[in-house]
Amino acid sequence: MERGCDLARAAAVLRGGGLVAFPTETVYGLGADAASDAAVARIFTVKGRPRAHPLIVHLADGARLDDWAIEVPQAARQLARAAWPGPLTIILRKGPRVAAAATGGGETVGLRVPAHPMAQALLRGFGGGIAAPSANRFGAVSPTTADHVAGDLGDAVDYLLDGGSCEVGVESTIVDLSRGRPVLLRPGGLARELIEPITGPLGAPDAQAPAAPGTLASHYAPRAEVIAVAPDEVPAAVARARGRGANVAVLAPAAAFAGWPELASGSHGTYRASPLPDDVAGIARGIYAALRDLDAAGIDVVIAALPPAVGLGEAVGDRLRRAAAPRREHQ
Ligand code: TXA
Ligand code: MG
Repeated sequence: MERGCDLARAAAVLRGGGLVAFPTETVYGLGADAASDAAVARIFTVKGRPRAHPLIVHLADGARLDDWAIEVPQAARQLARAAWPGPLTIILRKGPRVAAAATGGGETVGLRVPAHPMAQALLRGFGGGIAAPSANRFGAVSPTTADHVAGDLGDAVDYLLDGGSCEVGVESTIVDLSRGRPVLLRPGGLARELIEPITGPLGAPDAQAPAAPGTLASHYAPRAEVIAVAPDEVPAAVARARGRGANVAVLAPAAAFAGWPELASGSHGTYRASPLPDDVAGIARGIYAALRDLDAAGIDVVIAALPPAVGLGEAVGDRLRRAAAPRREHQ
């Protein structure tokens, strides 16, 4: 795999039907030409992702929205103006330019204008849309550094654009505006509180909502067992896990450890404290790297403190709950 900061090279790889992993402000994406069925098909092969699961199409700006979507409602235009570039994906009825492979054969498409300067430069240099899921193996925790991508996908990627650590750290918020009633399909890097003034209250997905693997109960899962609890339940959860003889880590804001003197002391034997920043933006930024580090350290059980479900706390809580959901074999 080639790796570096050569944007011209990365754009050329995309033009040739290849795969480019690139940084966005949320997580790294695994990109292909969104207008090419053959290029997009390679993404599914490399990720081991079921073909019916649609991809987000990334655009350089919202000006070309009508190239990629049809019947765009007014609320979508307003939301795009307010939130793009940024960590928001809008589901709309798909336009003719979108490769069928990118939509899982469905009638809708997820569109997003990422804010990361390298993603912006890549999109402008390439000139088209880039279909990209997160650049991890299917079902695993999303990558927030180039090293994470290299470790997960390695030589399957033709070019890895290295843009350092992602600023937001959790995936984009996904809002479905394709069926009238606005629905929050996935909380993410743009808080609900910033969307609802424009769209009105966001509903929860119902049976008719488009399928999204990010909404499968067990997704975003590290190797370790994750137990997500309210902060005041952490000490008891640790005691139970240690009673089972597990290697245990506690993932919580640094300030919370001050209330648990017996859990505060770094790393020893079968226990590890994994303090996160105290602000929820800092937690979002660091959560996936922390989960990967705990896997690498051989931790069996992660006790994670759930943040209040306001602002980015809704997305962080969602990911921790999914990581904690019972799962089948790792995919
Ligand atoms: O922040 C992000 O959104 C990152 C970066 C790379 O942009 N991308 C990302 O992609 O998280 P992915 O594929 O890992 O997650 C996208 C989610 C999936 O759950 C997918 O099913 C859903 O978006 N999705 C994509 N297109 C959709 C559509 N047309 N209808 C419903 N859900 C859709
Ligand atoms: Mg993903």
